[in-house]
Amino acid sequence: MNQENITFLTEKATEARARSYAPYSGFAVGAALLCADGTVYTGANIEVSAHTPTMCAERVAFARAVHEGQRDFVAIAVVGGPRDGVIDSLCPPCGVCRQVMSEFCRGDFKIILTDGKTPRVLTLDDILPYRFGLNV
Ligand code: THU
Repeated sequence: MNQENITFLTEKATEARARSYAPYSGFAVGAALLCADGTVYTGANIEVSAHTPTMCAERVAFARAVHEGQRDFVAIAVVGGPRDGVIDSLCPPCGVCRQVMSEFCRGDFKIILTDGKTPRVLTLDDILPYRFGLNV
């Protein structure tokens, strides 16, 4: 993962925040998912008043990509914070999103997070060790 890709994906994730539907939390999250063929799918969080059906930005991006037939993923950038505020802290994927990543990605899949200053690159192995899987 070179610096150019990291910057590009972080910018795409930041842009995707504008499409967030988050009337309940006011917390806008954007994600940009890079596929092995170079295609990028973005997502933003979509909230529902009953809360449970809320979809995180990462899962929206994965759903869009998987529905289009993508199965080979390289990296995802995630950027989140108060809708009209500046990004000053990391937005690490929730546990459910980590499990979805685990469904489709190997341990070296990259997760790019930013506090608005320096992007940080982690792997799925870093953020979800000892993960459950059915080895199908
Ligand atoms: N959220 C995401 O979209 N991704 C994350 O990684 C963490 C949380 C969303 C869910 C909800 O709409 C809002 O952020 C506050 O939890």
